[in-house]
Amino acid sequence: MMDIKIEKTTAPKAKPTDESKLGFGHIFTDHMFVMNYDAGKGWNNPRIVPYGDFPISPAAMCLHYGQEIFEGLKAYRTADGTIQLFRPQENYKRMNNSAKRMVIPEIDEEFMLYATKELVKMEADWVPHSDGTSLYIRPFIFATDPYVGVKPADHYLLMIILSPSGAYYSTGLNPVKIYVENQYVRAVRGGTGFAKTAANYAISLAGQAEAHEQDYEQVLWLDGVERKYVEEVGSMNIFFVIDGEVITPELTGSVLPGITRMSALEVCKSKGYKVSERRISIQEIADAYDNGKLDEVFGTGTAAVISPVGHLKWGDKVMTINNNEIGPISQMLYDTMTGIQWGKIPDKFGWIEKID
Ligand code: COI
Repeated sequence: MMDIKIEKTTAPKAKPTDESKLGFGHIFTDHMFVMNYDAGKGWNNPRIVPYGDFPISPAAMCLHYGQEIFEGLKAYRTADGTIQLFRPQENYKRMNNSAKRMVIPEIDEEFMLYATKELVKMEADWVPHSDGTSLYIRPFIFATDPYVGVKPADHYLLMIILSPSGAYYSTGLNPVKIYVENQYVRAVRGGTGFAKTAANYAISLAGQAEAHEQDYEQVLWLDGVERKYVEEVGSMNIFFVIDGEVITPELTGSVLPGITRMSALEVCKSKGYKVSERRISIQEIADAYDNGKLDEVFGTGTAAVISPVGHLKWGDKVMTINNNEIGPISQMLYDTMTGIQWGKIPDKFGWIEKID
């Protein structure tokens, strides 16, 4: 295992005092992890340094063609002060799948888990204490070669930054309003939908801006070919409960394979629910709604956790789900997932990785 060099800040920042106002992704801790990749040499010079701006060439390839990937996970503080991660191995496994698609050099998953733990350990005092808060961990890799031709780069930086955070949506656990996107598409099979890469998020902004104009929080993406089948929300995967059956779109290559998605499926199965990963059309959802069988809709994500959907708008049709209240399966999943993450209930799945 490579040694991580450590340079401590001489100017530690004041930590947020009012944890109810953390929001998501605005505040950053005192240190960050950095590592270089150079063709011929591989990943090298892992270090933890003071958090701060750094110089980059105006010709850096990531700025021009977006050769970039990222991950998102969280560190949670339990009642006895232990700090723990949720399935971090899955994040680094997915990062390597994203890396392959974007022709970025793969990372050593075990080393990255070690580096993440070392950084979080150093910043332990930044892990917030209040209910529902956590330290969001953002690892990312980007191409740095100064070159404006299109090719895979020879030089990359990998960084991990940390952000004490509360709820992703300003509504907290209150149901979100989602609008079915009919004009734009997010991803197609063979594209990059399954990879956690910047472009998938940039592409979502036009739809999101229109949703915001209509007072909706996010858009629900349909498949890029037939524009009939539901895919995901972009900031989260999507689930429907129809007549007691828990349904989420199958992973066809254009949907992000969410770790919360996978865990929610396992929790539902363990509780004996009928669970399906399959194609589901927006028409089927509208029909279920008309027949009074659309029991619940919710999103899953590391940032979003379990987010109930209260309104779903498709064209002129506005569906109000479960009276705009969190439903029983969404609540059960929220309680189980956050219970495991914050150490309030036993982790019978073996998902927790403690930081000691
Ligand atoms: C996450 O849930 O961690 C993500 O990366 C989604 C992002 C929109 C915050």
